[in-house]
Amino acid sequence: MPEPAVTPAVPPAEVPPAVTDLRAGRRRDGAPWADSATPVLSWRTATTAPGWDQASATLTVTRPDRDGAPESVELSGPDCVCVPWPFAPLRSRERVLLEVATTGTDGVPAAPARVEVEAPLLDGADWSARSISLPAAADDTPGQLRTHLTVEEVPVRARLYVTALGSYEVEVNGVRVGDEVLAPGWTSYRDRVLVQTHDVTGLLRPGANTVGAWLAGAWFTERYGFFGRATRAYEGPAAFLAQLELTYADGRRQVVATGPGWEGSTAGPLRSSGIYAGEEFDATRHDPAWSTPSGRAGGWAPAVVTDLDPAVLSPAAAEPVRRVQEVAPVAVTSSPSGATVVDFGQNLVGRVRIRVRGPRGHTVTLRHAEVLEDGELAIRQLRYAWSVDRYTLAGDGEETWEPRFTFHGFRYVQVDDWPGALDPADVTAVVCSSDTRRTGRFTSSSPLLDRLHENVVWSTRGNFLSLPTDCPQRDERLGWTGDLQVFAGAAATLVDCDAFLASWLADLALEQRRNGGVVPIIVPTAMAEDTDGVVAAWGDAATVVPWTLYERFGDRDLLARQYPSMRSWADVELAQADDDGLWTRGYQLGDWLDPRAPADRPREGRTHPSLVASAYLFRSLDLVARTAAVLGRDEDARRYAGLAERTRTAFLGTYVTPRGRMVSEGPTTYALALVFGLAPDPDLRAALGRRLAEIVREDGYRIGTGFVGTPLVMDALCATGQTSAAGRLLQQTESPSWLYPVTVGATTVWERWDALLPDGTVNPHEMTSFNHYAFGAVVDWLHRGLAGLAPAEPGYRRIAVAPTVLDGLTAARSELLTPYGPAAAGWVLDGDEVTVRAVVPPGTTADVVLPDGSTDSVGSGEHVWTSRWSPPRPRTVLAGLDTDLAHLVDDPAALARVREVLAVHDPGRARAFDGGLRYEAGSTLRTALLFADPAALAAVEEALTGLTARR
Ligand code: BGC
Repeated sequence: MPEPAVTPAVPPAEVPPAVTDLRAGRRRDGAPWADSATPVLSWRTATTAPGWDQASATLTVTRPDRDGAPESVELSGPDCVCVPWPFAPLRSRERVLLEVATTGTDGVPAAPARVEVEAPLLDGADWSARSISLPAAADDTPGQLRTHLTVEEVPVRARLYVTALGSYEVEVNGVRVGDEVLAPGWTSYRDRVLVQTHDVTGLLRPGANTVGAWLAGAWFTERYGFFGRATRAYEGPAAFLAQLELTYADGRRQVVATGPGWEGSTAGPLRSSGIYAGEEFDATRHDPAWSTPSGRAGGWAPAVVTDLDPAVLSPAAAEPVRRVQEVAPVAVTSSPSGATVVDFGQNLVGRVRIRVRGPRGHTVTLRHAEVLEDGELAIRQLRYAWSVDRYTLAGDGEETWEPRFTFHGFRYVQVDDWPGALDPADVTAVVCSSDTRRTGRFTSSSPLLDRLHENVVWSTRGNFLSLPTDCPQRDERLGWTGDLQVFAGAAATLVDCDAFLASWLADLALEQRRNGGVVPIIVPTAMAEDTDGVVAAWGDAATVVPWTLYERFGDRDLLARQYPSMRSWADVELAQADDDGLWTRGYQLGDWLDPRAPADRPREGRTHPSLVASAYLFRSLDLVARTAAVLGRDEDARRYAGLAERTRTAFLGTYVTPRGRMVSEGPTTYALALVFGLAPDPDLRAALGRRLAEIVREDGYRIGTGFVGTPLVMDALCATGQTSAAGRLLQQTESPSWLYPVTVGATTVWERWDALLPDGTVNPHEMTSFNHYAFGAVVDWLHRGLAGLAPAEPGYRRIAVAPTVLDGLTAARSELLTPYGPAAAGWVLDGDEVTVRAVVPPGTTADVVLPDGSTDSVGSGEHVWTSRWSPPRPRTVLAGLDTDLAHLVDDPAALARVREVLAVHDPGRARAFDGGLRYEAGSTLRTALLFADPAALAAVEEALTGLTARR
């Protein structure tokens, strides 16, 4: 290995070290509420000292609710991410002060950080509240609930513990509590309903007070299912549960809880509400004082007391859904049919807020769509999700309205019956999403790649809405396990999603338990349709997602929590396997949406479903074995490693020839074998890599993978040195490819590679969501592979900096906010010189492999290296009509020239070359043009000869 050339970076100005980002639990939105009695603790130390590492940390807790004496624990070593709670467990309602101080290996102490942490209600026995429902209504009729109470004096502390089967918004004395959207979110309601805690101390006053809640069925009363056969997933009416606890200066407590004494109304303004249908609000029925002591009495009746079992209550442990951004219209146009259509310029998820003046009783209608077809809203692909909101004006001046309990996936909104001319400033798109922090940024010399990356960020935002969904617009929006399984790495690169996904994994484990160990393909389970089958790549979310979170966030605690679920899924898979350890049975979705599959049969891709299933069986066994090793379960580690080995041997013997070909050939097949570690032998790997590159070329460098292969194919090519093919595949703009949608204006990731056909029409088949993140999984590789910033040890405690220079690009850079702090890696190519830069956070080290193969190892700080790289030599010999088609495919200029010439001389023949060129190994241009017009042949021959002569 040559020694790398190291250019020292300019040292940053010295800043005194300080502990920062101290938090209890996984949430990062600053909420003080603990998620359990023993939340994990994380912090980092900000310092500019080069090569800084933590030698020790002192954790101190002060518990004013007990004796108040501080208690300290000293930890030696570098641990600072997801550290187990080292003190006696918190009690319900207990508020503590936590302090963490660290010392570096240089002996210098860092300034401590402090944070207050408060336990919510941790035990079912803490609840005196009984859930209530609206009086005399259908299960999904929305409405309002309230109670009046008398407060003796200003409390020193007031907490509202609140949740619903359905969704709620609470008001105290007319003031909205908190900023959560669609709380408490969708979980496996049969087993787990999340409770929100709010500090409402400032909202109460001595004397008369009122607590009111809007309530709608939302996910709880929605109907799920395909082909118009939708049914409820849960039984019973929407219900609301709240417990308001006031503490006075002398320590007395007053508790106001839902139950008898509350009243409800369905005669108010919220006329109807549905996640899929949309919402109707009639402001003529609205009493603005309804949640204050002076609210009108008419139309209210005693609420119905229902009985939500407190055993299902669990503290909210993830960032809630919030309004995270507003987007203004970029255009307001009139459609061919004369409708007013607002274009927000971005496909997004949320709803529209309007500001309107007009006559009392006048109704404005908002219809939503992701794309236009022939200038009109394209709504076929929404299926039974009507996505229509209606607002009836009170007629008393300027009115502002936004629906409460619904959301839509849209870029376009048709506004019907707007009173007067629509001013674009009167409509605003409000983006709603689980409020996870953005962590990953990517830039490169390719604006198309940069836009692809941002499209994936938008699709993550749009589909991380309380749970990880497949799509946000049609009548699904479900927690399809396979979609998240393939996307988990990308998600963990783009946003801090450990709390969000840890919460979903808790539901996965609960649904799995109800289902005898089988992970359903949708979590939470929602359909009457059979979604409980044992399906490879979908159910494997149980093993892959916790492992990914461990890799990216260092979350060992979560790994331990999920281990029973991981192992029980692997056991279910094993029960499907034959005596050799291959999984060849049952219903499979295979490499879903492989572009070569028939458009109406997305399961029937090139890769045999048994091959996908057996590869995933190996993957899960391998991950269970590794997890067992991390958790110190040596016996399990040995057992599952042995089982994985058995499957590997059977896989190689069955699907891989000794000279490196695979049965059921296609890029996904090779990617699975290479990336999952099914083929460890270096010679075999090299042969598989060569054949994979050949297949990618045979496909004309257009994408040939579905859900399963797409996240793997760039890794597979680059790990076997096939970077030239990788570069062409990544930068392809013809359909199907990652960049084709970008070139035709996509602003999110599409479900199908050609959801919009090259002729501008919407693909007439199903599966044409314009906001589906699975194919966007490649952005993980943009960070890890192209820019070269990957975790080498859990949580990026050790970082692998190994950029990949691709022909056609001159720069790429990844910036990540890792658990240890900001990290970056990237490269710039100038001639044949590559400058590589990296930022390594305090407390971490980086193993560096430069483009010329030289290596280095560095500690925290900023580093710069120079290295050499030369592009693959362009093929220059074009032997006229006897040019090997493979050479032509690899020579974009020559291929373009052939297409130009054919377009003039033999347009029919030219169409065969449209969208690139598929070829069979060994064939020539002459064979491809058999029976072509002789004049066309001559013109092609002349063009190629001319091109060769000019080179
Ligand atoms: C969903 C997918 C899902 C698939 C599996 C679709 O309807 O939108 O993303 O994984 O079904 O069958």
